[in-house]
Amino acid sequence: MANVLVTGGAGFVGSHVAEACLEAGDSVWVVDNLASGLVKDIPSGAAFCEGDIADAEFMRRLVAEARPAVIHHLAAQSSVTHSLAEPSLDARANVMGTLSVLEAARSMDAPPRIVYAATGGACYGDPEEEIVDESCPLAPASHYGMSKVAGERYLAFYGEHFGLSVVSLRLANVYGPRQRATLDAGVISIFAEKLMRGEALTLYGHGRAGRDYVYVKDVVEAFLTAGKGGADGGAYNIGTGVITEVEALLDILSRRMGKNPVSVERAPLRAGEVFRIGLDANAFQKKTGWRHSFSLEEGIAAFVESLEN
Ligand SMILES: NC(=O)c1ccc[n+]([C@@H]2O[C@H](COP(=O)([O-])OP(=O)(O)OC[C@H]3O[C@@H](n4cnc5c(N)ncnc54)[C@H](O)[C@@H]3O)[C@@H](O)[C@H]2O)c1
Repeated sequence: MANVLVTGGAGFVGSHVAEACLEAGDSVWVVDNLASGLVKDIPSGAAFCEGDIADAEFMRRLVAEARPAVIHHLAAQSSVTHSLAEPSLDARANVMGTLSVLEAARSMDAPPRIVYAATGGACYGDPEEEIVDESCPLAPASHYGMSKVAGERYLAFYGEHFGLSVVSLRLANVYGPRQRATLDAGVISIFAEKLMRGEALTLYGHGRAGRDYVYVKDVVEAFLTAGKGGADGGAYNIGTGVITEVEALLDILSRRMGKNPVSVERAPLRAGEVFRIGLDANAFQKKTGWRHSFSLEEGIAAFVESLEN
């Protein structure tokens, strides 16, 4: 049992990480400014502090009080389209926010380990290879991608220069229960909501446009593994290594939900979006033994079941 602080614990992935830490017997603190997160998604049993992670003094006081052994740092402005519209807001939450989390950790006599939610889908740009490992050059194609890469670099710097115990997890496209259909990252939630309501669907990206979809429970397992000390200092892809095209995704989902779309419109990819990418997660697997356990079909089945309950 340990004290754990989850930043962004009212959000989609953060709320699952907080829940899993509670289940593991940890004492969990959640910090979130509710910019996109919801109080109802914070697992009961976690101590909730509402506030902005970019407020350095607030973070320093919070970390001094919570005395976490681990900080799972997931708070972020997480929408690519939002980042293009409001780049300074994005940089504030994702760059200044990460910096103040790191500074708060560094101010402790026994600094916590920090596990950072980096992006695998938005840090490599449009790579030449379809499935990329961590040696692929970083070439973010959006303000969001740039701010997340900056956060990752700050993290590595604090590891190298100040001896903090840090690890970055470059997540593929995460999906699962509690992902909000209002946020542009959650294509599976968006499709599910539109299928349920009988509304028209838009598929962004033509032809071979595709992504690597990883189920949230597998991502949570990666955070817990990394929090225990597996893999230090580096940045690791967390994905399935399988690319699924958007048409195939819709097909799996609509079959599982037993609902056909009323109409499907096709549109070009939105600005800042990557055409086709999958993540090779072998490095993290070799270091820690972690491997994704849900295929897309299994993850979608679990997600649809959660909608029915
Ligand atoms: N969901 C994905 O597919 C995916 C993929 C790659 C990386 N990530 C990263 O994983 C993390 C979690 O993503 P998510 O999908 O759960 O996003 P989310 O938007 O659901 O969660 C982010 C949370 O951070 C909070 N937040 C934002 N700015 C804040 C601030 N300044 N201070 C305090 N709280 C703040 C929001 O209110 C929200 O609850 C993010 O860092 C994101 O960049 C997610």
